Amino acid sequence: MKSMLKKQKKLILTPEQQDAMRRAGRVNARLMDYIRPHVKAGVTTLSIDNLIHSWTIDNGHIPATLGYQNYPKSCCTSINDVICHGIPDEYTLKDGDIINVDITTIVDGWHGDQSETFFIGDVSEQRRAVTQCAFDCLYLAIDALTPGSRVSTIGETVVPEAHRRGFTVVREYVGHGLGRAFHLDPSIPHFPNRQSRIDRLYPGMCFTVEPMINAGSRYTRSDKVDGWTVRTKDGMASAQFEHTLLMTEDGPEILTQTEYGPRKGHQFECLEADRAGEKANAEST
Ligand code: MF3
Ligand code: CO
Ligand code: CO
Repeated sequence: MKSMLKKQKKLILTPEQQDAMRRAGRVNARLMDYIRPHVKAGVTTLSIDNLIHSWTIDNGHIPATLGYQNYPKSCCTSINDVICHGIPDEYTLKDGDIINVDITTIVDGWHGDQSETFFIGDVSEQRRAVTQCAFDCLYLAIDALTPGSRVSTIGETVVPEAHRRGFTVVREYVGHGLGRAFHLDPSIPHFPNRQSRIDRLYPGMCFTVEPMINAGSRYTRSDKVDGWTVRTKDGMASAQFEHTLLMTEDGPEILTQTEYGPRKGHQFECLEADRAGEKANAEST
């Protein structure tokens, strides 16, 4: 610790500041639970955004994305081949879609940031599998972290797991430190690079892990018209999950744990596969 750079020391929060981050994470998770039943076929992403905006304001908080670098909405809604930063609009969710809803709230000046990928009705096996992979990669990475871990531990966990399943890891968009600001050091790439082999996660640091996993190639293309939407270059599906974490003396603490969302070990299921399974069962009995 003695050799720690001044720059890194600034990222360590006092116990009071850590509690403020716990409160921000808790509020953000409650908002994710609130929005959960509204993410379904027949609703527009704009209506989801409106609900998120109202809930945030009504509870006395601030949607962090609204006006952030001129971003126009209170959440990101990224559907199918959209990797991240999809802007809520008049699109109506339909059976078979996967949608990542990414929510960030400012609570008394502190940021909570998380996302989940939701299934709309029956999804294809490929969309299910890439969603499962993103979810498992998030928890594998969290479980690999210990106090003082190198940031590269995350990439060293995520990349082999994604590749083992035939998927790829996005490199252009990364996790981040957060606190009073939305995006702080350290950068949290989901692949190992030079800086992540240097940076360490000391007790008292807050950061996100938010792997974006592509079914096809890892390459991305950002929308030239809206300036935000990031899609897979090959048009294949992409999925993501995100948590805000606090490194403690005992390891990482998840600050954005929901009450009703999927927990570590959750198995996402395709209704179609279920039905096929049921049919096979019925025939064999
Ligand atoms: N919530 C995203 C993240 O996890 C950032 C969205 S910034 C926006 O870092 F401007 F696109 F909303
Ligand atoms: Co986010
Ligand atoms: Co984030």
